Amino acid sequence: MKYKVIRNEKYDFIGQSYATSYPNLHKYPATMIPQIGIELFKELDINKGKLLDPYCGSGSSFTIGLDRGLNEMYGFDINPLAVLISRTKFTKLDIEKVKLIRQRLRNKVYEFVKNEENVNGIEIPQHYNIDFWFSKPVLQNLSIIKHFVDKIEVNMRRIFLVPLSESIRECSYTRNHEFKLYRIKPEELIQFNPDVFSVYFDKLNKVIDIYERYYLPKINGAKIDISYSKFPKKENEFDVVLTSPPYGDSFTTVAYGQFSMFSNQWFGVKYARQIDNLLMGGSTVKENYPNSLITEYINEVGKQSKKRALEVSSFYFDLDKSIKDVANSIKKGGKAIYVVGNRRVKDVQLPTDQFVAEKFEQNGFKHLFTYERLLGNKAMPSQNSPSNKTGQRKGTMTKEYIVVCEK
Ligand SMILES: C[S@@+](CC[C@H](N)C(=O)[O-])C[C@H]1O[C@@H](n2cnc3c(N)ncnc32)[C@H](O)[C@@H]1O
Repeated sequence: MKYKVIRNEKYDFIGQSYATSYPNLHKYPATMIPQIGIELFKELDINKGKLLDPYCGSGSSFTIGLDRGLNEMYGFDINPLAVLISRTKFTKLDIEKVKLIRQRLRNKVYEFVKNEENVNGIEIPQHYNIDFWFSKPVLQNLSIIKHFVDKIEVNMRRIFLVPLSESIRECSYTRNHEFKLYRIKPEELIQFNPDVFSVYFDKLNKVIDIYERYYLPKINGAKIDISYSKFPKKENEFDVVLTSPPYGDSFTTVAYGQFSMFSNQWFGVKYARQIDNLLMGGSTVKENYPNSLITEYINEVGKQSKKRALEVSSFYFDLDKSIKDVANSIKKGGKAIYVVGNRRVKDVQLPTDQFVAEKFEQNGFKHLFTYERLLGNKAMPSQNSPSNKTGQRKGTMTKEYIVVCEK
């Protein structure tokens, strides 16, 4: 192994989960537990400066930045649901006003449904295949909530949309506990009759409670700017980059787009069905990734399947390009911290940690160290199972690597 890996038990955080220190406002696949970054920032003595997360997901990097006293943070993600969750966590709201709006929303919804004509007249969204995934009463009730939530002023609206997003999924015919979309069995379907309003208002209470207890007290004057987009080019701007990029393309690792599809559709995102194609590794290339320490591993995959080797290559082409841009955007003396997994394809374990260190070194950085940690607690599906089922791991992704480089 070219870039040294140190097994570091301190970073296993045995018995701890994301929820131990900062519960998430909404389920999200492959979240990074904030404890990792908090510990590492302490170790590296990072407590000021500008932070970037080019793959920010549900925003654990900003939790870390706030905890460590950073005052300027920037995040990017092309999944609108991720941006919604992150923005909700880090937008300062008047909590008493939130609670008042919650009360009014409840009253309005329950008042509205007293009249059957109202319910039958509510406009229902017309997304592709919507009747396959939702029963008519569920569609009506979700539409009623959305109708009233949409009237709330935009900054305030997000905290009401987050529980609506989870309710949409939970009240659909989708099997729970999986990130990809699978319909429940026909015999379960007949009995499936969720109480949409209870589901929503229970979730709303939880979201408000978590926001008030865990996030609001940490929001100080720090600037946290989160955008729906790929990371655009910048020069010498950031002091530290902390990120956990995807482990591979969305089709064969974590289907972020599919996981988020209903919410994105309901919230009016036009490209909701195309997100997995837009994410890293989403478009195919015509040659294997060349001239890198990863190349021999990809060629090994290619001996078994040329197609898989090209799919894998497309991910590394994208990661290469992204690292170039990220490297450029970091100031001299700044640090890049990437938390990655080495997934297995066709029984070949792909050393992404080595690839990340190699690419940063080629872009003017020095590899400082890589820590190996056990991945006991990460809420994520199997990295090598196309079904994306939770907990169905073949023991290939039980470790994670924290790669640290300096410019
Ligand atoms: C491992 S997750 C990040 C999880 C995050 N650290 C958290 O705790 O929630 C990777 C994220 O990268 C995003 N992503 C994938 N390709 C991207 C791209 N080209 N540009 C921006 N974001 C991308 C996905 O939507 C996903 O949210």
